Amino acid sequence: MILLCAFPALPLIASPDFEKEVAPVLEQTCLFCHNAHETKGDLDLSTRAAAFAFEGTIVPGDPEASLLIEVVSGPDPDMPKKADPLSAEQVETLREWIAAGAEWPEGRTLVHDLPNVFPNKNFHSDYLQAHG
Ligand code: HEC
Repeated sequence: MILLCAFPALPLIASPDFEKEVAPVLEQTCLFCHNAHETKGDLDLSTRAAAFAFEGTIVPGDPEASLLIEVVSGPDPDMPKKADPLSAEQVETLREWIAAGAEWPEGRTLVHDLPNVFPNKNFHSDYLQAHG
């Protein structure tokens, strides 16, 4: 009895480590367009509160119902816009993180870090020129 009470609700799936595995994927592939200043599609992925502001973007425990997984999956993913699709491994990391409850450490703010995705340094101005 005491043991049961000491370990409530253990997650069924081990989550990828947010700091080591999840944050780098988001920071390198999404944060450029989805941060507090650049909220493409009204989506800010920089903080837990912002990322969870719209019901359905991230549904803890249910990656299939999560728009964030939908847009990076499939043969011709919508996101990241104007860049190579995520690797199967990166998608799997996000999927497992959501399946395990989408834990996001309190106070952790993501910042963009995009050398891998946008080798073109003029990307930002090119993008703005093309899209206003
Ligand atoms: C180069 C800019 C850019 C990058 C990088 C980018 N997005 Fe987007 N995102 C957009 C734009 C623009 C929209 C608005 C909808 C549209 O134009 O398709 C959007 C919309 C979205 C939406 C809302 C879609 C909807 O149907 O309402 C989600 C979810 C999303 N992005 C997730 C992501 C994720 C996850 C990543 C990283 C893997 C990412 N985005 C990377 C530009 C970007």
